[in-house]
Amino acid sequence: MNVAVVGIGRIGLPVAATIASKGHRVFGCDVNAALVERVNRAGNPIPDEAGLDAMLREVVASGNFTATTDTAGAVAQCEVVLFAVRVDIDGEGRADLQYLLSAADDVARALQPGTLCIFDTTLPVGTTRKLLAPRLEASGKRLGVDFHVAFSPERLLMGRVIEDLTKYPKVVGGVDPEGGARAAAFYREVFGGEVIELASAEAAELSKLAEGAYRDLNIALANELAMIADVHGVDVAEVIRAANSQPYSHIHVPGTGVGGHCIPVYPRFLMQGEGPSALSALGRRVNDAMPGYVVDRVAALLGGLERKRVLILGLTFRPDVAVTFHTNAVDLLREFRERGAEVVGHDALLSDAGVRELGFEPAPQPLAGYDVAVVHANHRAYASLDWGKVAPLIVDARNALDRAAVEAAGARYLGVGRPVSRA
Ligand SMILES: NC(=O)c1ccc[n+]([C@@H]2O[C@H](COP(=O)([O-])OP(=O)(O)OC[C@H]3O[C@@H](n4cnc5c(N)ncnc54)[C@H](O)[C@@H]3O)[C@@H](O)[C@H]2O)c1
Repeated sequence: MNVAVVGIGRIGLPVAATIASKGHRVFGCDVNAALVERVNRAGNPIPDEAGLDAMLREVVASGNFTATTDTAGAVAQCEVVLFAVRVDIDGEGRADLQYLLSAADDVARALQPGTLCIFDTTLPVGTTRKLLAPRLEASGKRLGVDFHVAFSPERLLMGRVIEDLTKYPKVVGGVDPEGGARAAAFYREVFGGEVIELASAEAAELSKLAEGAYRDLNIALANELAMIADVHGVDVAEVIRAANSQPYSHIHVPGTGVGGHCIPVYPRFLMQGEGPSALSALGRRVNDAMPGYVVDRVAALLGGLERKRVLILGLTFRPDVAVTFHTNAVDLLREFRERGAEVVGHDALLSDAGVRELGFEPAPQPLAGYDVAVVHANHRAYASLDWGKVAPLIVDARNALDRAAVEAAGARYLGVGRPVSRA
C-alpha cells in the first residue's frame, strides 16, 4: 500500500517510519525543506524518540520511506493520506487551524479516486466534517463517493511514540461510513493492535478531548488538594497515596501547572465548541494559577524575593524530552521576576540559545550558590547534583524529587502541597 503522511514532525515522522517498517511505501510530506533533506539522509531530527534512529536508517535504506516537500505529487501516488500537522491555540485561546487547512488544500489538488484521508491531529469536535472535509471537496470530488474521510487521534507520549502506536487501541470514527470502516481496516493491518471503531468522526474527536480534559481536571483536583494540604500542614503526597490505595481513586500528581501541547490545549477545544464546558474552564484556571501560588509560598518562606537569586532547573515541559511548548517554566520565571527576584535558567537538554529563547538568562557553571533552586523538569542529568551546594532551599515543582536525598545533602525541601523541611 502507498501511504502519504502529511506533517513529519514529532508525531508524523515516527508514525510514517513505523508504517514503512511494515513494508508499505510511505511518503513523508512536509513544508520544511531542511527537515525533508535531513530525513532523506536518514538524519534523525528527534534523537530523544526511542527506536527512531535505527528505524529511520532502515526504512530510508530499503527505499520504503521518502520525504518530500511536494505533497500533491506524493498524494497522487497514494491510496491513504494521514494528516499529522499540528494544531495549536491562537492568542485568543482558539484552535489555530491554518497549517492543517493549508495541508488539506495541498492534498485536495491531487486526490485520487477512492483515496482515504485520515486526520490524526486532535481537533475541536465537528472540525473534520465541517471544515476539513469541505476543503477536500473543493477538489470537485465527492465525499463518500470519490474519496473517504475519517478522524483517528494519535494517543502517544513523545519519546515513546513507536512503542505506544501498537500498545494503545486506535480509536477511529468516519465522516462517511466507508471512511470509518476503511480507516479501521487500515490501522488493523499496519499496526496490528486493537481498533475501536466509533459511530462518527465527532465521537472520535470528543473521545480524544475527553482524555485530555480528564487529565487536566484530575491535575486541577490534585492541585486543589495540595493547597488544602498546605492549609492544614499535611503532606499531599501521602494523602494521595492513601486515597489511591482504593481502586476507584486515580488522583494525579500536583505541580506548578500543566505544560506541553496536549493537556493544556485540549480543554480549550472543548471551551470553544458547542455544549457545556464550565469544568474545563475551571480546571484551566486552577492549573494556570499554580506557578503564582508556589512562588508566593517560596516568598513567604524567604521573607520576600526582592534580589533573591533563583535558579530554575529543567525548562522543558516534562523530564528528558527536549520540548518546550507551553512550558510552565516561563510562568515561574514571570512570577519570580514580578516579585523582584533575579532568575537564571538551566536545562540539560537545551543550548544556551534555547534557554534564551524562553526568556531566561542561562545559568553559569557550576550550578551552585543560589538562594533557591526550583526543579521544574527533573531530567535524569540532574540526579548527580549536590543539592546542598546548589541552594539551601530546593523547590520540587513536580513532586518528583527524593525528599530524603535533598535533605541528606543538606538542603531544605519544599514540594507542592508538601511541608517544607525544618531549618
Ligand atoms: N506531540 C505529542 O505529544 C502529541 C501527542 C498526541 C497527539 N499529538 C497530535 O499530533 C499533532 C502533531 O504534533 P507534532 O508534535 O508532531 O507537531 P510538529 O510541529 O512536531 O510537526 C508538525 C509538522 O507539520 C509540518 N507542516 C506544517 N504545515 C504543513 C503543511 N501545510 N503541509 C505539510 N506539512 C506541514 C511542520 O513543518 C512540522 O514538521 C498535534 O497537533 C496533536 O494533535 C501530538
